[in-house]
Order: sequence, then C-alpha cells, then structure tokens
Amino acid sequence: MTVATAETVRSQLRASQGPRTRPRGQLLKWIGNKFRHAEIIAAHLPSQLGTYYEPFAGTAALAATLTPTAAVASDALPELVALFELVKTGPEDLLEHYQIWSEAIVERGNDAYLDVRNRFNTDRRPEDLLVLSRTCWGGVVRFTRSGTISTPLGPHRAMSSAKLAGYLVDWRARLRNVDFRCQDFAATMGLAGVGDTIYCDPPFSHGQAMLYGAHDFRLESLWEATAEAADRGARVAVSLDGSRKSGKDPITPDVPPYLFVREVLIDSGGCMLRRFRAGGQDMRLEQVSERLLLTW
Ligand SMILES: C[S@@+](CC[C@H](N)C(=O)[O-])C[C@H]1O[C@@H](n2cnc3c(N)ncnc32)[C@H](O)[C@@H]1O
Repeated sequence: MTVATAETVRSQLRASQGPRTRPRGQLLKWIGNKFRHAEIIAAHLPSQLGTYYEPFAGTAALAATLTPTAAVASDALPELVALFELVKTGPEDLLEHYQIWSEAIVERGNDAYLDVRNRFNTDRRPEDLLVLSRTCWGGVVRFTRSGTISTPLGPHRAMSSAKLAGYLVDWRARLRNVDFRCQDFAATMGLAGVGDTIYCDPPFSHGQAMLYGAHDFRLESLWEATAEAADRGARVAVSLDGSRKSGKDPITPDVPPYLFVREVLIDSGGCMLRRFRAGGQDMRLEQVSERLLLTW
C-alpha cells in the first residue's frame, strides 16, 4: 500500500459538497462514538449519497452530520433505537423526563441515580437510557454480560436541560429523514442498491459486542454483506479502530484485500489516504486512531 495523497482535515472539508458539519454537541456518549471524526468521515463519503444506510448506528453521529434526504439507521440495541424515535417524535416528553431526573440526581445523589438505573434494568425505557448516559461514571454506559447497566454515578454535573433542549432541536432536524430500525446490520445492508451509500461502524471484533448489551457480531459476516452490497452497486465505507492495542501490537483485523480500493488513515491531527493493491510505504499504524475503508 502506498501513501498516495497527504490530506489535511481542512482540505477534505473544503472538498466535500454541502455543509456536512457535525451537530453542535453530542446527544449522548457511547463507546466507539464517531462524533469527533464525523466531519472527516463525512467528507470522504460520496457527494451524492443515494439512500444512506448506517447499520451500526450507535449515537447516529454520522447520520446527524450528513443530514441525509433519505436514510435508514439501525442498531441491535432496541432502547437506543427507541431513543432516536423519541428524539424524532416526542422530544418534549424526553426533555421533561430528563429535567425531572437529572434534577433529582443533583438533589438526592446516588439514591435517585439508582432509582433510574434499576428502573432502566427492569423496564428498559429509552428516556432512562438518556439520563444514565448523561450522569454515569465516565459518561459512557456499559452493559454487563446479562444485558443490564451497572455503571455507577459519575462525579460530574449532568448537562443542563436548557442545553439539552437546544441539542434536541438540532438533532431532530438533522435526523428528520432517517428511518430508525432495530435490526441486525446484515438486514440493513441488504436494503442498499445501486447508487446508495452504506457507512459501517462495527463493534471491535474482540468481544466488544457485549459492551453494548448487543448481539452476535462477526467481522466475516460484515465482509460478506459488504461484498454483496458492492456487487449490487452500493458504495460501502467501513470504520475500523486503529488504536486498540494488545500488549505492544495494534490489533489490526484481517481485511480481505479484494474488497476495498482505498483506506483513509485518521490520526489526531488529520488524515491520509492510501490505496490498496499498490506496493510501498505504510503510515505508522501507532499514529492512527481510525481507519476508514472504502469500496470505491
Ligand atoms: C462502534 S458502535 C457505533 C458507534 C456510532 N458510529 C456512533 O457514532 O455512536 C457499534 C454499534 O453496533 C451495535 N451492534 C453490535 N452488534 C450489532 C449487530 N449484530 N447488528 C447491528 N448493530 C450491532 C452496537 O449496539 C453499537 O451501538
């Protein structure tokens, strides 16, 4: 692989068509959230998206940055999908729930937090997922093997409901054309056809699925779905985490060499493009925090 072009974040953004600016703040935090790199990733997706598909939606950071005119975003975690449905259809109720319970946590501390967490683990209400994600330790909920949330209360003060109200208006507008579904990634990818764009941000292959309280995931199945979608004429982009390390070595999953044409290597200061199927020099993988593989 050769480093074919050196590109800065700024030039990539200039090259992109349309605004493609990310929302002014994160609606919720999530393990593997792409909010930080959303504009760089969006700048590398086609200017004409066709129908946009995001089969591992998580917090839908990319969909919210792209503001697509037709899109399907899906995730295997039902409460997350239900939360985005509420953002679209019932943001007032969501905001009221957040206000009541974030204030209760300020007043009653851990007792109120445990009320929310126990209720979520029993009733699985998406409104409670939002409160937990904004008040838990480290701001990122984690799921146990049995699918419950065990993360303790964090020391920080939760975002104010006034600020959340502004975020909800922004995210609701950006996601107005996105159809949220709870389904396996393969079902969503199977919908894409000629001229459509798929952006995949899978869990780490090394057992990360459990952190989301989610489901079976095998990288091999993603490669199969990618090959099928590309055969039907869809363009597929796949994010892989470049920074995870096991001991001294970065964990770089095997990527089938025939599937992808280009790869964007993103580090903390910018990004670089390299092409598959050309010999040459490699960017040092230790510097890379994200890899974006492109089939076109
Ligand atoms: C790395 S996160 C996506 C983060 C997202 N790009 C963001 O910016 O927030 C991966 C997501 O895949 C979901 N997931 C795990 N296994 C899945 C499966 N088999 N099908 C669909 N979604 C799955 C998880 O619930 C998680 O939300």
